[in-house]
Amino acid sequence: MNSKPRLWISRPTFDEVVAPLDAYFDVHAETVERRFDSDDIAQRLADCDAAIVGMKEHIGAREVAGAPRLRMIANFSVGHDNLDLAALTAAGIAASNTAGALDDSVADFAWALMLAAARRLGEAERWVRAGQWRHPPQFLDWLGTDVFGGTLGILGMGRIGRAIARRAAGFRMPVIYHNRSRLDAATERDCAARYVDKAELLREADVLVVVVPLTEKTRHLIGADELAAMKPTAVLVNVARGGVVDDAALAQALADKRIAAAGLDVFDGEPALNPALLDLENVVLTPHVASSTRGTRRAMVATAVDNVLAFFGHGPHAGKPPNLLNPGYTKT
Ligand code: 8YV
Repeated sequence: MNSKPRLWISRPTFDEVVAPLDAYFDVHAETVERRFDSDDIAQRLADCDAAIVGMKEHIGAREVAGAPRLRMIANFSVGHDNLDLAALTAAGIAASNTAGALDDSVADFAWALMLAAARRLGEAERWVRAGQWRHPPQFLDWLGTDVFGGTLGILGMGRIGRAIARRAAGFRMPVIYHNRSRLDAATERDCAARYVDKAELLREADVLVVVVPLTEKTRHLIGADELAAMKPTAVLVNVARGGVVDDAALAQALADKRIAAAGLDVFDGEPALNPALLDLENVVLTPHVASSTRGTRRAMVATAVDNVLAFFGHGPHAGKPPNLLNPGYTKT
């Protein structure tokens, strides 16, 4: 009989990064990547004391109802719309995320999408691969939009938004932002960013990057009305969550050239995409991989491991999980 607490890891990760858990836990790590439905998750959690899960695992009251020993869930991601925090708190279960582990990788990727969308990189690459480059491109072909010198708008000025803003100096771009709450003056100075209301953000941004978490309040924060308020030359980038942007309205706006282009890493209902997006040349589409570098994915797993260890009184942050999402949970 194993007396160590039992821990479930929902996805294959880096063996050497999760290895420190073995000293304290009876670890059950999935060896094959798969999608778990609610019953699968409930069954996996039933006899667990802790779990490390990804954003594909939706966990709320139903999934934890039959898991009397469960005390801690560490998310592999910074976004935690897969976790019903109110339900977990009510059940006395602590939750953590990976805030801080992926800011720079996601910020880099947001810039990659801005540049790719504005300079028509995907479209040009498809054209070359299709063997269409038989003569020099005509002088007036492939005209894109300059990114440098334009106004960068950021909707959501958390850690990732700020990392995106800090990169703007090299492109000589003034930065404006809108956020639930205004940043303090020192942080605004550090990011060289000016707070504006949402209407001004939409009106003034040459490139608008969306980096807000998905909540009841942010669903379709960018829809037909917001797209209509943007410049016809503007580029929209979404590295936040599908659902924050209304993909159907965006596809229509791109088709009608009401904005110039978009770069999207996340989609409502992913991995299914709104089919209208697939027919458009002026959108760059990537499969939710903004955090996917070797270093960052390792750091995300290490952060989850650190939080679990800390919660159970081990490791460098023993007793103080650094990324606790619901300090109001009651330890049983
Ligand atoms: C995913 C993310 O977690 O951290 C987030 O919120 O969306 C990503 O980093 C990652 O793609 C793993 O599924």
